[in-house]
Amino acid sequence: MGKKSTTSTNKSKEKRQARKLEQRRIADGMSFVTTANKLKDLNSLCKDLLMYSIEDKEIDMSISRVTDLDKEALDWAIDLTERNMKKLYETCAWGWNKERKVEEMTDDAAWYLVARDKNKKLQAFSHFRFDMDYGEPVLYCYEVQIEEAERRRGLGQRLMQVLERLAAETRMHCVRLTALTHNPSAAAFFRACGYSIDDTSPAKEDCAHYEILSKATAVDNAEDCIA
Ligand SMILES: CC(C)(COP(=O)(O)OP(=O)(O)OC[C@H]1O[C@@H](n2cnc3c(N)ncnc32)[C@H](O)[C@@H]1OP(=O)(O)O)[C@@H](O)C(=O)NCCC(=O)NCCS
Repeated sequence: MGKKSTTSTNKSKEKRQARKLEQRRIADGMSFVTTANKLKDLNSLCKDLLMYSIEDKEIDMSISRVTDLDKEALDWAIDLTERNMKKLYETCAWGWNKERKVEEMTDDAAWYLVARDKNKKLQAFSHFRFDMDYGEPVLYCYEVQIEEAERRRGLGQRLMQVLERLAAETRMHCVRLTALTHNPSAAAFFRACGYSIDDTSPAKEDCAHYEILSKATAVDNAEDCIA
């Protein structure tokens, strides 16, 4: 027994306050994620970015939940992912497991940003989700896939800009993603779009075959957000 000193009382008070703040931060984050996932129309948050002209082509983008995406677009997205990624997955510890990929891509939590030309031909897509990740509300980009013939025309960058706008409007802290380290074009692309190694990425000495990249949400955009 004995009486606690003032210093130790102050220290435990500080710890309690820090714990409360952390719980509050996580609860706020979870509520932003819930609100974002309940939104009926994400298109209205980034209308100005959804039309894109590349030389001779006009691209129109739209955002929907996987549950509202038409079957043709979903089947094409799965096929494009296989065409673009199978070899890269096969040459790392993950391996290519189509069933697992389809399960991930058709999970009810998935949102899709899909780009079509004016003849409705499918050109590019991103699968993303609003989620808590390491205690933070984030927009997680699961895929960004462009048809081979449409690359290096700024379409990938425009898709990322849409995701970044959505993250800001819904109070996500950042856009976060996982990239394979042996995919140099993706590495160059994400760096060109302003993404850098996230704190949650494996340490260099772990020699992992993937890295976690992120781009913080622009504060200016986040101020007038809807959430
Ligand atoms: C990576 C990918 C999404 C890039 O899309 P994209 O529409 O071609 O990219 P953009 O035209 O918007 O490129 C923007 C900038 O990124 C950089 N970049 C893009 N692709 C690059 C490549 N293959 N090599 C080097 N830099 C590249 C360039 O700086 C480019 O600007 P520039 O063309 O003016 O030099 C596309 O190549 C792709 O779908 N690859 C296969 C799937 C994949 O790897 N996805 C990413 C992991 S999920």
